[in-house]
Amino acid sequence: MQTKNQVRVIIPATTANCGPGFDTLGIACSLYNEIELELTDSRNLTDIKVLGEGSGNLPVNSRNLVLRSVRAVLDKAEFGETGVRLILRNNIPLSRGLGSSSAAIVGGLVAANAIIGNPFNKDILLDMATRLEGHPDNVAPALHGGFTISVQQEQRVTCLRLPLPSELRLVVCIPDFGLSTRKAREAIPGSVTHKDAVYNVGRTALLVGAIASGRLEYLSDALVDKLHQPYRAALIPGMLDVFEAGREAGALGVVMSGAGPSLMAYVVENEETVGEAMVKAFAKHKISSRYLSLEVDYNGARITDPA
Ligand code: HSE
Repeated sequence: MQTKNQVRVIIPATTANCGPGFDTLGIACSLYNEIELELTDSRNLTDIKVLGEGSGNLPVNSRNLVLRSVRAVLDKAEFGETGVRLILRNNIPLSRGLGSSSAAIVGGLVAANAIIGNPFNKDILLDMATRLEGHPDNVAPALHGGFTISVQQEQRVTCLRLPLPSELRLVVCIPDFGLSTRKAREAIPGSVTHKDAVYNVGRTALLVGAIASGRLEYLSDALVDKLHQPYRAALIPGMLDVFEAGREAGALGVVMSGAGPSLMAYVVENEETVGEAMVKAFAKHKISSRYLSLEVDYNGARITDPA
């Protein structure tokens, strides 16, 4: 294996579920974290610096998710003991439904894999990332970029990546409070009715078909859900009003981004109007928020030159 001393990786934020595609669909977005990894001779050294989002909050010890992911690759490759130095430059807000933990996992895996000469292909990295995250819908687009459909079978993930219509853009409204994925998952019941399952099967198929064929006029009927959003609405004050405000301002549809609390509008125009309308609707419920206009990222996690 051809090893290097230092690598730098850029990883996109992601928006999972995309409405009806719970734990299955995801899109990579143009908001990025950056990880610098260096392996050192001092075997016991772990030196982690967090800049930007999560600085002061994220652990800088063995619990750090980037470090755990780096170690997972080194252990699998039987690389042996080594010191690790990490600099994490984070722009993806934490606990907002924009894939910050997936970015940490995928970034750590890709960086470690690259630094030891890429012994593992992307299929293996995706399986490892899914095991660390618990579900594949954020880690798949973080790794591959674009729009991904991922299903888990036993320990393996099957992932299909599709291009999105070029005119499609995303406006995310990020409220000023965090919501843990664990708490948002606990709000979902263990079983649902057959009727609700059929509702989501149909909308997920319609969404994938609309995206694959470029028929965006079908998105408004497709970007709806009965498997998770109704149960999580109580955790996000004003959610349904923000959905409605975004649609009235011209969005094709508005859904929870991942497990929330950020809400994602799918648009082809009027990005500012849609973003401002969503912020205003949250404000009526005394929630302050901001919006970002994002593009789809087609690269996924990628190695760049070390600084
Ligand atoms: N599919 C996941 C959920 C995404 O909605 O819980 C959050 O990681």
